[in-house]
Amino acid sequence: MPIHPETFPPFVQDALAYCIVLTRRNLATLTSFPEFAKCGAWFCADDGGWVGGHWTGLLWLAYAHTRDHTFERAARAWTARLAPRQHDTTTHDLGFLFELSHILGWKLTGDAAFKAPALQAARTLSRRFNAQGKFFQAWGPLEGTPRERGRAIIDTLMNLDLLFWASKETGEPRFADSAIAHARTALQRHARADWSTSHVADFDPETGAFIRQDTAQGLSATSCWSRGQAWAVYGFAECYRETGDATFLDAARNLAKYCLRRLPPDRVPYWDYDSPLIPNDVRDSSAAAILASGLLLLAKLEADSARAARWRAEAIATLESLWNNYSSRGTPEPCVLLRGTRSKPEGSLDHGLIYGDYNFVEALTRLTKPEIEL
Ligand code: GLY
Repeated sequence: MPIHPETFPPFVQDALAYCIVLTRRNLATLTSFPEFAKCGAWFCADDGGWVGGHWTGLLWLAYAHTRDHTFERAARAWTARLAPRQHDTTTHDLGFLFELSHILGWKLTGDAAFKAPALQAARTLSRRFNAQGKFFQAWGPLEGTPRERGRAIIDTLMNLDLLFWASKETGEPRFADSAIAHARTALQRHARADWSTSHVADFDPETGAFIRQDTAQGLSATSCWSRGQAWAVYGFAECYRETGDATFLDAARNLAKYCLRRLPPDRVPYWDYDSPLIPNDVRDSSAAAILASGLLLLAKLEADSARAARWRAEAIATLESLWNNYSSRGTPEPCVLLRGTRSKPEGSLDHGLIYGDYNFVEALTRLTKPEIEL
């Protein structure tokens, strides 16, 4: 069946062209994985940290848009640099790392050699599943402190897709089963009655008993960290795509409505929806970009055309505001989007973020190349 791309406003192609120019320029200078940008420079993570996939993802998408083999060669080389992380037992972020490097590379080139490291990453990630509490341990080593072993975070929803993919590739249901179990736990323990979410959920790692909601990157245990909320919209939309379970669709819709109710007029959230300093607090442009990409995924999954049109219109309006009000055009910054907030509690704020840039380009790609499975 031919795909008929819907129309999109003219800023989309301008923004994409700018992102590709910047990616080409960054490729010429970077020697390590970019994480955040300020004062005209990238601050990098040698082993990719949790963000290496966003840089490889930008390279792969630049290749998809241009078919310039310089980008393909670079994407392959940087993807290979992440391969050793397939054995990394210290992080839940193997989904971010391998989906946007190896799996995206496989989707765009058909090169099956990308699959084995991603499958091993899924096996490694599986080791973090706490069967009693039915959640994936977010941070710290497998044999970490009880506090580390009992912590789940909202961001993990974005790492589940690697497990769904591994089940499809291997025919082994255990990967998807643990992903579904985690998503159900997340819905029960992070989401609140008003459809805001907590960043952290703490459990007793031995019994699996839920202890409390908490935060690390948000304002408080009872507030709503805007990037976490965006991960939740996107992550539950992915869970619905992979399972067809209407509970996850309902969650994604309601979490999205929470964001849309609370966005400021320019549609780019403050770093935490509950900051008492609003409107004099910092934004997180990455949260807006992630939300836009998640909304476009939701739009694609909706059977109801009126709902799909609403999510799409909301996403496009957010992308347009990012482009008009937050892009680095005319500045010396090497990132596409200004004014992200990595972690305000750690004093890391008001800078570019590679995952803001990636999700911005991903959302633009969803609009212009809907045939790419993202
Ligand atoms: N996943 C980590 C973050 O969003 O900061």
